Amino acid sequence: MFNLVLFGPPGSGKGTQSANIIEKYQLVQLSTGDILRSEVKNETPLGLEAKKFMDQGMLVPDEVVIGMISSKLDENPDVKGFIFDGFPRTVAQAEALDNLLEFKKNPINVVISLLVAEEELKKRLVHRGEVSGRSDDNEEIIMNRIKEYHAKTSPVADYYQSKNKLVEVHGEGTVDEIFAAIATTIDSNL
Ligand code: AP5
Repeated sequence: MFNLVLFGPPGSGKGTQSANIIEKYQLVQLSTGDILRSEVKNETPLGLEAKKFMDQGMLVPDEVVIGMISSKLDENPDVKGFIFDGFPRTVAQAEALDNLLEFKKNPINVVISLLVAEEELKKRLVHRGEVSGRSDDNEEIIMNRIKEYHAKTSPVADYYQSKNKLVEVHGEGTVDEIFAAIATTIDSNL
């Protein structure tokens, strides 16, 4: 099994690159953002609770997302591996993921961190808000999401660095150029 964390700030291209990775490597994508948006859309109790945080650009509480990921791992026992997209986003989530995977004897192989300048992130997300209408893509909420990233999520990179699992990839340029760098990293860790 090959387990990959695709790490980076809001708008760094995690979702875009996950689609390419799935196609080439047949991994299963677990995007906590997508799972939460589906819960919100279906107005489940979990979705209604999560919406309060997502609408403000705040992180949803750890226990909610850890529980979601745990269920998804159990639902997919016989896969080639997982791409974790948008998870873990706190050190507590990273520790919980390590524990879940250790129990299954399939640890994280590599963490790819996409590096994108803040101005570029804002530009991408404002543009996406205009074309796709995603409700958390307006300037005020984008700024909150970036603040949450610096306060709670960037320490996750240090966590994986200390375990020698972090590889940084320049996340600006064309989608194909960035994917080529990601594929090189995956190939050297397979
Ligand atoms: P989530 O959906 O994970 O949002 P995010 O991290 O803010 O990431 P995005 O989906 O906005 O960006 P991305 O990096 O995937 O970039 P994308 O490929 O779309 O989370 C949303 C909310 O859910 C959070 O705020 C939180 O409340 C909650 N949540 C989720 N996970 C959680 C967790 N683990 N714990 C707690 N709460 C959680 O690209 C962005 C745009 O840029 C697109 O329009 C794309 O077309 C464009 N683009 C991509 N690549 C390029 C490129 N190379 N050049 C130009 N444009 C590009």
